[in-house]
Amino acid sequence: MTLSADQTQKLLEAAAAVRGHAHAPYSKFPVGAAVLDDQGRIHVGCNVENASYPQGTCAETSAIAAMVANGGRRIRAILVTAEGEGLCTPCGACRQRISEHADDATPVLVAQGDRVRATFTLEQLLPHSFGPENLGR
Ligand code: THU
Repeated sequence: MTLSADQTQKLLEAAAAVRGHAHAPYSKFPVGAAVLDDQGRIHVGCNVENASYPQGTCAETSAIAAMVANGGRRIRAILVTAEGEGLCTPCGACRQRISEHADDATPVLVAQGDRVRATFTLEQLLPHSFGPENLGR
């Protein structure tokens, strides 16, 4: 199922707003993420860096944690936004975290400012992923 223009716009606005709260003094690369859950609710997150660099968390991780904390379980779509020439595609660890709550067809939107620059399916970003079925459950 494709996202409506209204859903996309709401995700863009939510991710841009939360990006303003990012704590990124080390990379100086603030990122915002917005998740649309299967109940139609939007959950947001930003990157939160730390002086002990590896302890920093990505925007997508924060947004997924917010979704789960608010009772959401499934990701209907996720949008990530950042500035810069390169696309801000989710890192490998975040792709795995998204996959826990999503399907192969789940849209992953990559944005900058007020526009979506690229849309991927999760399967395009994380083919042959490891999920609960690989645990034999
Ligand atoms: N970052 C994210 O929050 N999401 C991404 O999709 C890519 C990278 C963060 C991690 C770090 O705080 C900063 O951006 C630079 O890598």
